[in-house]
Amino acid sequence: MKLAGEKIVSLTAYDAGFARIIDEAGIDIVLVGDSLGMVLQGNENTLQVTMDDMLYHTSMVSKAVNQAMLVVDMPYMSYSTSEQALNNAKRFISEAGAEVVKLEGGQDVLDVVQCLRQHGISVCGHLGLQPQSILKYGGFKVQGREHDSAEQILADAKALQDTGVIMIVLECIPSSLAETITAAIDIPTIGIGAGPACDGQVLVLYDLISVSARLPYMAKNFLAGQDSITDAVSAYIKAVKEGTFPDAEHSYQ
Ligand code: KIV
Repeated sequence: MKLAGEKIVSLTAYDAGFARIIDEAGIDIVLVGDSLGMVLQGNENTLQVTMDDMLYHTSMVSKAVNQAMLVVDMPYMSYSTSEQALNNAKRFISEAGAEVVKLEGGQDVLDVVQCLRQHGISVCGHLGLQPQSILKYGGFKVQGREHDSAEQILADAKALQDTGVIMIVLECIPSSLAETITAAIDIPTIGIGAGPACDGQVLVLYDLISVSARLPYMAKNFLAGQDSITDAVSAYIKAVKEGTFPDAEHSYQ
């Protein structure tokens, strides 16, 4: 799709009901995100999400996804070593029905990515704002605004590609940096708060239908003016495919 210039559209889902709706609407990638710690469990961040939580939700989602690629977030501290990551990733695939695991980090996770790839497990990277490092940042803050941090994110993206990840989520970085990264690597970039130049877009489903307590800057309520959740998801898919979302209003400069 990257080569063909077709935008890749992704949404999170945490249960079979919503997973069925978004899968039938034609979403390309369903992500069982550890954002469930915030939007389902009501926590302030994703750090309390456990392997058991993620296995439980992924099992439900996988039963309802028939056409989309199913990606699952490896939760905080579930991939601290290659051995631990391999054990946990295997569980997501064999017990819960996931197809790809997503993990946050750059140079620091290359060993883990390499180990998973050697065992035939597909990995999605996640750079920019990494919610599992929230305590290090001191809050949810846009990343890559300074020259050095932008260079680091670009170098991390190239290193992740070279180590075999199949795509990279770019979260909350300036649009210009996302554009540079997207042009510099062959694998797809999937943005959230990363501007219109990414190869694809992901949103948290609860933001899209305005169930979240607080709508993040880069998200948009697609239910407004629609009659159903299916219509809202279809409007989101159409907007991303046609390049009208994300616009400047939902991006960082
Ligand atoms: O946990 C999640 O939902 C995510 C997306 C925001 C990309 O990682």
